[in-house]
Amino acid sequence: MSVKRAVLAGVVKDLRKHVENLRDEGVRVVETTALPKTRGAAPAAAIPAPRPVAGKSDQPRVAAVAAPVKKPALPTEPLHTTRNAGATNVAPRNIMPEAADPALAGVAAEMQRLAGEVAACRICVLHKQRTNTVPGQGNLRPQIMFIGEAPGADEDAQGLAFVGRSGQLLTQMILAMGFTREQIFIANICKCRPPDNRQPLPEEMTACLPFLRRQIAALHPTLIVALGATAVKGLLGPTEGISKLRGTWCDFEGIPVMPTYHPAYLLRNPPAKHEVWADLQAVLKRLGRTAPAWTKMNKGA
Ligand code: URA
Repeated sequence: MSVKRAVLAGVVKDLRKHVENLRDEGVRVVETTALPKTRGAAPAAAIPAPRPVAGKSDQPRVAAVAAPVKKPALPTEPLHTTRNAGATNVAPRNIMPEAADPALAGVAAEMQRLAGEVAACRICVLHKQRTNTVPGQGNLRPQIMFIGEAPGADEDAQGLAFVGRSGQLLTQMILAMGFTREQIFIANICKCRPPDNRQPLPEEMTACLPFLRRQIAALHPTLIVALGATAVKGLLGPTEGISKLRGTWCDFEGIPVMPTYHPAYLLRNPPAKHEVWADLQAVLKRLGRTAPAWTKMNKGA
């Protein structure tokens, strides 16, 4: 092999490794500046993502990768998820988890199973009025798992967690932390929407908790962020009020839990974003990450 060819082979090898690392990090689309056309150069293309089908469904769908949720105010990164099928497919490496990582194939299978059981669940009254169950979606090996209360109208309509106004703010929080939604997992204490967005009743939370426990056990998040009083109560039982507890590390079966305010509360009380940002900075510190400057989530604060 000529020296020139050997150098080229080395570059290709390094490039391949870099792309594989990016893929493992959850990066699915790499933007590049346009290069001058060269002979035989093919345009870069994102992997096409099937769109979720709207409407009522009791059947979990087989791992589909959803297109970005159409919300103009949202940052435009794609939201990879599995509608009503337990988010088995989220980040690039999860598109074919079996091929990429046999360990993740097991997690994906458990998520799929779980989503099926959630979709079939009739244990509490919430099943009666739901359009879709909302098992949750995200990365199968997340550093952070965000846990909210229960789906609202948008989530019930789409079968996806945190896609309404609170979800837009949650996305800003995630981006401000230096993550994308594909890199974390989002779930709720209850997987069905309570009527009129009321808080879930204790018996509804109790009925749904085994699903969340199984999700946590399968996903092994490095840590959990509990969003609001209901998430804290569901995970940790009766505790101090959220305003006292927020910002202090708690524990759920060996997993560190950071309680903080729910994004819906922040929509009503923008100044509380400062406290939430402090909590999220503590999360980043625990993950050994540098906390970025206060930027993206401070709109309106
Ligand atoms: N609020 C929640 O707690 N969860 C959602 O999924 C949406 C809004």
